[in-house]
Amino acid sequence: MATSTRTVTAGDSRSSVLPEGVHLVGSVPLASSEEVFRTAAGGLGDRLRRVPDGETGPRSDWIVWQYPVLSAQPQFEVGPPGPGHYRALPRLRLRAGERAESVRFESLGYAEAAIASYRVFARLKRDGVIPAQCRLQVCLPTPLAPISAFVAAEDQAALEPTYESRMLAELAEIVDTIPHEQLAVQWDTNVELGMLEGVVPVWFSDARAGILERLLRLSRHVPPAVELGYHLCYGDSQRRYFRQPADAGKLVQIAGALAGSLGRPLNWIHMPVPRQRDDEAYFEPLADLRLAPETELYLGLVHLTDGEEGALRRTRAARRHVERFGVATECGWGRRAPSTVPALIELHRSVSAPLPSRTPARSGVFEWPAGFARIPDEEWTRQDVDSFGLAYDTVEHHGWYRNLDPTVEDLTRSLRDGDLLVDYSGGTGILLDRLKLRMFDRQVGMLIVDSSAKFLRVALEKFRDDPLVGLRLLRYLRDQKRLLFLDEVLGPEVVGRGVDAIVSTNAIHLYYDLPDTLASWVRTLRPGGLVFINSGNIRNPRARPNEWILDETVWVIDEVAEGLVRTDARYAAYRDALDDEERLAAHRAHRDRVFITPRPLHFYLETLEGAGLHVQDVHEETIEASVDDWFELMSTYHDAVLGWVGGTEKVDGRAPSSEAVDDRLALIRHSMDILFGGRRDFRACWTYITASR
Ligand SMILES: C[S@@+](CC[C@H](N)C(=O)[O-])C[C@H]1O[C@@H](n2cnc3c(N)ncnc32)[C@H](O)[C@@H]1O
Repeated sequence: MATSTRTVTAGDSRSSVLPEGVHLVGSVPLASSEEVFRTAAGGLGDRLRRVPDGETGPRSDWIVWQYPVLSAQPQFEVGPPGPGHYRALPRLRLRAGERAESVRFESLGYAEAAIASYRVFARLKRDGVIPAQCRLQVCLPTPLAPISAFVAAEDQAALEPTYESRMLAELAEIVDTIPHEQLAVQWDTNVELGMLEGVVPVWFSDARAGILERLLRLSRHVPPAVELGYHLCYGDSQRRYFRQPADAGKLVQIAGALAGSLGRPLNWIHMPVPRQRDDEAYFEPLADLRLAPETELYLGLVHLTDGEEGALRRTRAARRHVERFGVATECGWGRRAPSTVPALIELHRSVSAPLPSRTPARSGVFEWPAGFARIPDEEWTRQDVDSFGLAYDTVEHHGWYRNLDPTVEDLTRSLRDGDLLVDYSGGTGILLDRLKLRMFDRQVGMLIVDSSAKFLRVALEKFRDDPLVGLRLLRYLRDQKRLLFLDEVLGPEVVGRGVDAIVSTNAIHLYYDLPDTLASWVRTLRPGGLVFINSGNIRNPRARPNEWILDETVWVIDEVAEGLVRTDARYAAYRDALDDEERLAAHRAHRDRVFITPRPLHFYLETLEGAGLHVQDVHEETIEASVDDWFELMSTYHDAVLGWVGGTEKVDGRAPSSEAVDDRLALIRHSMDILFGGRRDFRACWTYITASR
């Protein structure tokens, strides 16, 4: 345990220090998850292992927002509230003749909320606002709660499985989306205590066994690497304490049973302590609580109404029966006035000690080699940000850019503090942006290398102030008709050190001289260094029959557009262009330099091996692309896709009129609508290759 100079009592030695750590039960009455994260991390960051999103907005009254989810189901009719309900809300009952099995919940909203909050959490963690040791705490009510609160007694048993299976589907979505080592799941266990106390009706025969069986069943769906905890709840004293507990006995019984039967680590247990309870009798059962060393116990003994003095008094009483615990309130804060939040935070701070740091001392914090300027003193760094680069950067928001996710996972698994990664053809820096939202505070140096000054200029805008990111332009050497090689542009300082990994996303199909490019990678990588490649433009024999190679759409768009120009009066002005074969060929040659004919997978694998790299893994993923997103990309490259419509600077020596550009874009869209038959999406095959030096 960490030591603290604040004494709680002069009594026995175990009680001479403040409890370590704070647990936030869940709801916080602030405006947004961002405000909650910032406030909690700012005030209690050194005391929190996890931070909830505060259940803001419609979620602020615990499960009440589930009432409309249930009442919207047409199979229900609405009856008046009965006694002993969570709120005086109507009771839902199945209409005569309706069966519980026909009720289907599309979405409860928990997964959507958790995933949205994770995006904010990840950004704030990357930016150092949320401390490295903190996970996102996703709080879910046990399905018993909304069923018990909102469904008429005679239908509860029948509807519980339907609601539970939807809740588990949402949990599955949460654990599939949020990295496990960043996630903690808390089951809000409230109705169960009411059932054990005999104040909430139970629809199963043995309340204790049925409750435990359900809690264990739910918890099996939380993977071991995701932390798991329970908020055991008697309600909160302001509005809904369903019964004052006689002592902590029932809480200890549930906690002990869970700890003994989960078959996975129980990471924390939270229990309430009523304000007036500083007596032996309340805490005595805690002496029987057997928790594994990894289980943190949080006692909800902080009450704003009696402040520091009350919390310390209850701490002393608890200490006589349990040695290690952290502090909390008895329930979430959502039903309190927002103006109480600063005082609550301050109170938690004053009655707790910081947690011992879990982060091991860093062995190899990254440093650039001596003499290496992470941003070179070159002309392009001083130019304005270019609109073409910005237009490409919008792909970041396209669904098909999910293709980066597997590569981000591969890199997160491989990179260590102190490593240097080269993002070859890193473009506008989208990959590094995502990687930093995944690896957060890992001290990895990252170099974006690209042949486009326009793209790099956008990346510079993003990373100018990030000491871990460097940029290099692969200049074109006109006399040698080639781009600078990687080792040439990085220079002896970096090559001498050796690069730990090179990644290339959505670009390798563009390398006109692959053997030379790969040879330069090998000269730059340290022995054992890794290469990660992805591309949706590799002819992969394992692609499924209906999967596209992305750039193949360009040739088909051209074919369809030619037909439209010949037949549709709206495009008659461009018919002559089709008769000028020489000009047409020049435009298509330009197009084929921008959108290179896809090469087969074996070509890449053989060239990698030929360069001295060992292919370790090849796999493919189906990536769904929306036609709208792909049209946006085609619009960015419109002069390569359909330059013969209206002409281009590069081929014709003069820019097209704005009307011609409008027609060209209309024609690209029209062709795509014909090509995809008005469908909104199509599928593409993405290939992922890992190799090592
Ligand atoms: C489709 S973008 C992908 C950018 C980035 N890797 C990403 O996934 O967002 C292709 C990138 O490859 C770069 N590029 C094109 N030809 C190249 C070549 N021969 N060698 C190196 N980079 C090239 C472009 O400048 C552009 O930044």
